[in-house]
Amino acid sequence: MARHKICLLGGTGFVGKRLAARLSEAGHDIVILTRYATRHRDLLVLPTVRLVEGDVHHADFLRQQLKGRDTVINLIGILNEKGRSGKGFRRAHAELPEKIIEASREAGVHRLLHMSALHAARTAPSHYLRTKALGEEAVHRAENPDFHVTSFRPSVIFGPGDGFLNRFAGLLRLAPGVFPLACPGARFQPVYIEDVVRVFADSLDNHQTFGQRYDLCGPKIYRLREIVEYVVKLINKRVCVVGLPDGLSYLQAAMLEFAPGKPFSLDNYRSLQIDSICEKGFPEVFGITTTSLEEIAPGYLHR
Ligand SMILES: NC(=O)c1ccc[n+]([C@@H]2O[C@H](COP(=O)([O-])OP(=O)(O)OC[C@H]3O[C@@H](n4cnc5c(N)ncnc54)[C@H](OP(=O)(O)O)[C@@H]3O)[C@@H](O)[C@H]2O)c1
Repeated sequence: MARHKICLLGGTGFVGKRLAARLSEAGHDIVILTRYATRHRDLLVLPTVRLVEGDVHHADFLRQQLKGRDTVINLIGILNEKGRSGKGFRRAHAELPEKIIEASREAGVHRLLHMSALHAARTAPSHYLRTKALGEEAVHRAENPDFHVTSFRPSVIFGPGDGFLNRFAGLLRLAPGVFPLACPGARFQPVYIEDVVRVFADSLDNHQTFGQRYDLCGPKIYRLREIVEYVVKLINKRVCVVGLPDGLSYLQAAMLEFAPGKPFSLDNYRSLQIDSICEKGFPEVFGITTTSLEEIAPGYLHR
């Protein structure tokens, strides 16, 4: 397998850290761009990883960092923005991919792996999904014989350090016996972090993946209520999960938009109107038997 010189954007996040570990283990040389290098010094234990602090939206900085790299991986994404205009989502999900394409062209990069989201579409109800679609379209427009693009569209991703099961576990631990759950009927097909990073790593040199977009889901579909009740069981707490009807779910989202850290928002509520499940099985090209929630979650949620 070829050793690549990779520039990793979003390498300090939940997915990025695991992907960096996997790529480093395979001997690839990795530069991670971050806004806050000192916060992520733990990544420097990985032998082939370097952290560079800077603003990825700045064209000169991006071009400089891509110079001499053969591959760029873009994982940057946000679940919520400051305000509600959609500007923050557009900047992170649609404008940044355009900037990456431009800088890659100038720097001579010839491979891009791009993180999108399941059911990203121009017609989707949320800013999150609409802007993810714009970014995905932009990177695939750039595909040419000297520049190959693959994008990935996962359902929710689980594993140690995730922001999904861990967030519910944190909230449930604080709950006073009753937990009001918005959108309890929303469906998900959670996919394991190690399965996700494996397909990124395996795509690097696989010509079959050039120009392709892959939906990534785990082996089983759950309603949100089932997942939250499973977390209750794992953390061994006595709490009753009360599913909210649609009107109250909307109201909860509208109120929590103003809570510190925006734990839930109207945009999140709108994303949940579309079931996050795959129409087909896991892409055969990767030859993976996907890992279930039940195999992994007890290992990091159980106390
Ligand atoms: N986690 C999931 O369940 C899931 C499901 C589907 C799709 N995805 C997508 O997968 C990607 C990675 O998700 P994740 O869970 O690993 O996210 P995460 O933990 O929140 O990490 C986000 C990363 O993006 C960077 N970032 C965030 N806002 C930025 C900004 N305004 N400018 C520059 N960099 C910014 C952060 O870098 P610094 O703070 O170091 O600068 C960080 O490395 C995202 O695109 C997400 O939409 C995730």
